Amino acid sequence: MPIQVTWLGHATWLVNTGTHTLLIDPYLTGNPVASLKAEEVQCDFILLTHGHFDHMTDAAPIAKRCGAPLIANFDLCQWFAEKQGMSEDQLIRMNLGGSLKLPFGQVKMTVAMHSSMLPDGTYGGNPCGFVLILGDKKLYLAGDTALFSDLKLIGDLGLELAVLPIGDVFTMGPEDALEAVKLLRPKQVLPTHYNTWPPIAQDAKAWRRDVLNVTGAIVSTPLPGESIEI
Ligand code: NI
Ligand code: MN
Repeated sequence: MPIQVTWLGHATWLVNTGTHTLLIDPYLTGNPVASLKAEEVQCDFILLTHGHFDHMTDAAPIAKRCGAPLIANFDLCQWFAEKQGMSEDQLIRMNLGGSLKLPFGQVKMTVAMHSSMLPDGTYGGNPCGFVLILGDKKLYLAGDTALFSDLKLIGDLGLELAVLPIGDVFTMGPEDALEAVKLLRPKQVLPTHYNTWPPIAQDAKAWRRDVLNVTGAIVSTPLPGESIEI
């Protein structure tokens, strides 16, 4: 069954597994390039990589409206329980290195080299990425991260798709993201966390050519609202 992956703009993604819809890092309200309004999103689960506003602004309202559990690290879940009134049965607490079998497949929480603080200043725990094992396909969403050599270990899992930030300034930029593709060795790549604001404007089509030339990986560059199937 094909998996549909849709960019909603910035670092917000929808992954439709065929049976479930996963929403990653919902930031639609206030996002200048969002392709949907927060009220329009339907999903079954929400995954959060860290506590920065551009990854979690709409998480609580969408989770409550859709009845979608929130999958995040222990510290973020604690904040959503205490400060956003999320009920305990809607919080799926994980931490780095942990895996969990869920109705749609398996989730593994991976290291990301970044920071994490919630908008009110609360400590957000460690930032993360996710490996999603959906049927026979493994997808890696790096979250906000710098380049680090342990990406090779994630690549050893055998990835169908890697979603990597290319915006620079706050995350790795195009050159480091190319090095990340070398370490990860995915068949397909999607760039993320770029073209939201001028400081993270990037030429994704030029990056696509470089990645294909150097690694042979296929990069798709959907616009916000567009999907690819894997
Ligand atoms: Ni961030
Ligand atoms: Mn970010």
